Amino acid sequence: MRLHETMEHIYPIFDKMLTRADKEALLGQRGLMIWFTGLSGSGKSTIAIALERELQKRGLLCRILDGDNIRSGINNNLGFSPEDRVENIRRIAEVGRLFVDTGVITLAAFISPNNDIREMAADIIGKEDFMEVYVCTPIEECERRDVKGLYAKARRGEIKNFTGISAPFEAPEHPALSLDTSVLSVEECVVRLLELVLPKVLTDKD
Ligand code: ADX
Repeated sequence: MRLHETMEHIYPIFDKMLTRADKEALLGQRGLMIWFTGLSGSGKSTIAIALERELQKRGLLCRILDGDNIRSGINNNLGFSPEDRVENIRRIAEVGRLFVDTGVITLAAFISPNNDIREMAADIIGKEDFMEVYVCTPIEECERRDVKGLYAKARRGEIKNFTGISAPFEAPEHPALSLDTSVLSVEECVVRLLELVLPKVLTDKD
C-alpha cells in the first residue's frame, strides 16, 4: 500500500493550526490594531515609533506598518488615485489582521483619508480589535513642517491628488483618541495612548 492511500481521510488532530489564544498565551499579551489616521506630516509614524518603544520596554511585542515599508514593498504597484488608496488600505488591513491574529500589537500609520476606507479596515480586522487614533494636527502645521517637501510640490501642481491640497481628507467621527501634535509633545501623545492601550493588551498574568 502506498503512503498516500494510508493517509486518505485521516486528519490527525496535531495538524490543526494553533489558535490566536495559543499565540497570545505564548506572548503573554493580547493582539490589537492601533490605526493612526491623519494628514501627511501630522506625526502618525513618529507617534507610532515612540509608542512601539514604550510597549517593547514593557515586554510587549509590536509591529509597525507604515508607508515606507508597505508602499515600497507589497504595495509598490499602487499610487494615490481613490481606487489605489482603497486597495492600499485593503491589503494593509489584511496583513494587519494576520499580525493581530498572531497576538501582535500592530500599529498602522496611513493617511487612510475617509470614513469608508477606515470602516473597510475595521471590518477586515474586526471592530473589537480595531482602535482608531486620529492624529489631528492642523494642515497649516503639517504644511509648515513639510518634512518631505511634498506640500510645496503639491502647491506648485507637481503632485496631483495630494491629500489636504488637491484630494480630500475626511476627519473620523468617533476616534478612540485624537492627538494634535501642534499642541502635544510626542511624549504626551504616548502617555495618552498607553492609558488606552495597556488595559486592552495586558493579560491577567501581567
Ligand atoms: S493613503 O491615502 O493611501 O492612506 P499612505 O499613508 O499610504 O496614503 O501614503 C501617504 C504618504 O505618501 C504621504 O505621507 C506622502 O509621503 C506620500 N505621498 C505621495 N503622493 C501623495 C499624495 N498624492 N497624497 C498623499 N500622500 C502622498
